[in-house]
Amino acid sequence: MLTAEQPRTNPAASGDAESLTIRIGNRTLATRYFLAPLAGYTHLAFRQVVRELGGVGLATTDLVQATHLLTGTKWARQLVRTNEFDQPLSVQIYGGVVSQLVLAAKWLEDHGYEAIDINMGCPMAKITGQGGGARLMCDTNGACGLVGAVIEAVRLPVTVKMRLGWDREQITAPALAREFEQIGVAAITIHGRTRQQGFGGTVQIDGIRAVKEAVDKIPVVGNGDVRTIADALAMRRITGCDAVALGRGALLDPWIFRRLQRVVELGEPIEEVQQWKPSPDDQLDFLAKHYRLMREHRGEIASCLMFRKFAAWYGARLGIPEDLENRLRRFESAVEFADIVDDIRARHGERIDPRPTSDIRVPNGPVEFW
Ligand SMILES: Cc1cc2nc3c(=O)[nH]c(=O)nc-3n(C[C@H](O)[C@H](O)[C@H](O)COP(=O)(O)O)c2cc1C
Repeated sequence: MLTAEQPRTNPAASGDAESLTIRIGNRTLATRYFLAPLAGYTHLAFRQVVRELGGVGLATTDLVQATHLLTGTKWARQLVRTNEFDQPLSVQIYGGVVSQLVLAAKWLEDHGYEAIDINMGCPMAKITGQGGGARLMCDTNGACGLVGAVIEAVRLPVTVKMRLGWDREQITAPALAREFEQIGVAAITIHGRTRQQGFGGTVQIDGIRAVKEAVDKIPVVGNGDVRTIADALAMRRITGCDAVALGRGALLDPWIFRRLQRVVELGEPIEEVQQWKPSPDDQLDFLAKHYRLMREHRGEIASCLMFRKFAAWYGARLGIPEDLENRLRRFESAVEFADIVDDIRARHGERIDPRPTSDIRVPNGPVEFW
């Protein structure tokens, strides 16, 4: 959580004339609050249910390996699966070989995708060993060569998501951001940690500001540890960033984008909006829809397995009685799921002390995977 002082007013209430929308490349995004990619969580079904609550300016797919996209592995095609309710969307690709990234970008353009995000945070040895992923942050020429080749190859906006640098001795993000702007990158998302930090310690807010100050015009999207409305507004105010990407904060509170919209667009008081809680029925409808969409997209067996990962989170968040949470962790069919949801509805309020959101564990990230 960001530790910045909570603002007493909000931008709408204080007459801030800044536009609520933001332009990235040729697209105008309706809000400045984006869903960050969380591999394994931000699949199409999750993106769709969160978007339906309102306020999401942009979402990005989980990272997809360029070669897998080109060879057409089932998994890669699942990752880029989208539909008309999942817009605007960027597809995040990664890899260490320029020609493969170029071909993957062209494939995306040919298949009607609207924007490409290049992952420069991946620390996997087999990628960094080839000079790709986060390793690119140590090689300005290599990074610019790769990103430049992708920009040349497609007409779509190309963005980059990176960390502050490889480690604290090599904080290269500001210099890279400047170079990227020169070669035509449409926006930069910056997670305020180094690759070495993983998810430890706190986000270095000054590092994000340095990236914002390094570029001339392109939007900078601040990212890291934003969990509340106040965090998001503080990120923008302190760093000057143009937009904010929320990952784990959206898992904790999928309504956070809607909350931000109420504060920023409608001028409602921050404390009031933060304290507002969706009704138990709304929360359960969200859960049920999340599963239903997963089943529509992935079929019954895969969706049961995928959904179980969310059981603990929903359990704590919704105050689901523990025996039902356990069933949610193990269910094997859509019929069983429907049964559990009925039981949760009937027994709502039984687990009287759901943990506060701040105590709910969020994933620390499969650092080896992205
Ligand atoms: C489980 C998990 C999976 C992630 N997957 C990706 C990914 O596919 N691509 C990426 O650029 N970042 C990925 N990240 C990093 C997030 O997008 C984000 O930069 C980071 O979690 C900090 O933001 P947050 O505190 O809002 O979550 C992942 C993080 C987590 C925790």
